[in-house]
Amino acid sequence: MNKSSAERRSAERRMGELRREIEQHDYRYYVLDAPSVPDAEYDRLMRQLQALEADYPDLVIAQSPTQRVAGQPAEGFEPVRHRTPMLSLANAFSAEEIQQFHDRVVKGLEIDHVTYVAEPKLDGVAISLRYEAGCLEQAATRGDGTTGEDVTSNVRTINAIPLHLERREQSPLWPPTLEVRGEIYMPLAGFHAWNEQARKQGGKELVNPRNAAAGSLRQLDPRITKTRPLAFYAYSAVAAEGLPDSHLEVLQLLRAWGFPVNPEVRRVKDAQGCIDYYHDLAARRDSLPYDIDGVVFKVESREQQETLGFVSRAPRWAIARKFPAQEEITRLLDIDIQVGRTGALTPVARLEPVFVGGVTVTNATLHNLDEIRRKDVRVGDWVVVRRAGDVIPEVARVLLERREGDPEEFQMSTSCPVCGSAVERVEGEAVFRCSGGLFCPAQRKQSIMHFVSRRAMDIEGLGEKLVGQLVDKGLVHSVADLYKLSREQLLGLERMGEKSADNLLAELERSKTPDLGRLLYALGIREVGEVTAHSLARHFGSLEHIAQAGEEELTDVPDVGPVVAGHVRAFFQEAHNREIIDSLAQAGLRWKAVEVQQGEQPLAGQTWVLTGALSMPRAKAKNMLEALGAKVSGSVSAKTSVVLAGEAAGSKLRKAEKLGIKVLSEADFLQLIAKPGSK
Ligand code: IVH
Repeated sequence: MNKSSAERRSAERRMGELRREIEQHDYRYYVLDAPSVPDAEYDRLMRQLQALEADYPDLVIAQSPTQRVAGQPAEGFEPVRHRTPMLSLANAFSAEEIQQFHDRVVKGLEIDHVTYVAEPKLDGVAISLRYEAGCLEQAATRGDGTTGEDVTSNVRTINAIPLHLERREQSPLWPPTLEVRGEIYMPLAGFHAWNEQARKQGGKELVNPRNAAAGSLRQLDPRITKTRPLAFYAYSAVAAEGLPDSHLEVLQLLRAWGFPVNPEVRRVKDAQGCIDYYHDLAARRDSLPYDIDGVVFKVESREQQETLGFVSRAPRWAIARKFPAQEEITRLLDIDIQVGRTGALTPVARLEPVFVGGVTVTNATLHNLDEIRRKDVRVGDWVVVRRAGDVIPEVARVLLERREGDPEEFQMSTSCPVCGSAVERVEGEAVFRCSGGLFCPAQRKQSIMHFVSRRAMDIEGLGEKLVGQLVDKGLVHSVADLYKLSREQLLGLERMGEKSADNLLAELERSKTPDLGRLLYALGIREVGEVTAHSLARHFGSLEHIAQAGEEELTDVPDVGPVVAGHVRAFFQEAHNREIIDSLAQAGLRWKAVEVQQGEQPLAGQTWVLTGALSMPRAKAKNMLEALGAKVSGSVSAKTSVVLAGEAAGSKLRKAEKLGIKVLSEADFLQLIAKPGSK
């Protein structure tokens, strides 16, 4: 290529500008969590730089953002001896142990008060990054603390890790050799998105974010690592000199030089400050966009750290307060079948009691037969039980290596375990169902529980045990019988005092004027959830109209398709159901007619995207939006009208902000739909 030296100089200048511009965008995205340009613009800059680098290969530098993947797959990883050992942390499992730790620190330093830096304990992989003259030279895993493995090529592919340092916010210059330590982790959004994709394509799913991060980092081919959604938070620096005494200030400096630092890091005082921080973060743990397994407290002053020193492999100046385990191992004693309101049979694991995530678990869901087969769960197996937040505990996986003998595969029974009716399975559905309908006491109990539930008729005082007695004693066959119960009958039940009986009768009386939507939902028509019930009520205005509607009229209602319409029609064609409705009316129930909605769809023509954790199920939010005329899409693009962002929303929210798309919180959204018509 015969280019003039003037052209070359100008290309060189432009390459420098592009590198700086791209790095600035990376910094805003990964460190400040405040992206400044749309992806398309970022890609355009990257392509420009690549084109210039192709023209002038000798001007390509190792720190160029285009050079994150370089070289060939490795044969293995070279050992790296850490210049400063990578230590581990002592663990505390209670507030008392934190107090004892603090007492030791106070004693060791001969002072009365200590300031600590509190940090989330990320559940990922520890990494040590060595920068020489501000350039990333080597990245090594922890290994045994003394010797780790050289994973530099893989680490270079992680965009959140700077290839070279930058001075920002008038920060001082970095020391000639700087070792930064931190955690490489996989954010939950990336983990779930990866697995969703894997499921669709029949690929292998990642077990959990921690293993995923570790496995991604140990790939011999860095091109594979590059595809994995990895991120990084720095938590300490090792340097001969030139760093501030305060650990917190060190972290701030790292941030200014280009390293992401966890935004939850705080300065706290004495044991009480540590304990308060722990409780605060524990309460928010499930809404964080990454997994943490505890929090870490470190004496803030590095001089004080030095005074305290180490015991064996752990510092005396730091401690990890661990959360109760979210996963535990226990024995599967048996598999029972639970019959739900619509007859769906759910296999339930009976477990040897085990303490998981702060509670004792004896039962866990196995979801359905397909899941049992997929995980190959058999009675007698050792299983991993997982409990995340408030969700029902589940059997996550089986420890096949601990299986004894050759236990039989679980078989779904061909008759209902409660009423003996035949069990059916609809083609293509995962669910098995009892065909007994309301003949089946289990279905009857569940349908009554649903009828009285808070979002349906909201009748307080009718718990599972009481409903069980009412059905088993033959006092209640259908929900209409609830309104025929006498005081005497109630007093004849176990654990029923006069006061409770009177309260329950008053509750039943009070429930006699529900609005139509609630009643419709309470009736428990298959696939008619709360939102659909209210849409039907608004559209038709009276129960009679709904009962008489044909398929076409029904499918006119937003959110109602042929399947739901079929269930609605089948429900009202069933004589037994019509009798129940008549009995309810005879018992004195009067459902308030609803003003007919004039096909009003305030969100018609809009495309919404849901992201983050909402307090209501996603499907419900989707139904609500569709009922108001909006389309709901899975990805953010220029065509998106609004992004509904729940807690801990991640990349979709960032993209929306980049594209300047309107973002609403769940509270905003609920307010909006409370006033249909307003936009
Ligand atoms: S400090 C001497 N800070 O926990 C200090 N470690 O047993 C050593 N970890 O595998 C580490 N988050 O990778 C520190 N904010 C944090 C941490 C953290 C996670 C991991 C670390 C190591 C283990 C320590």
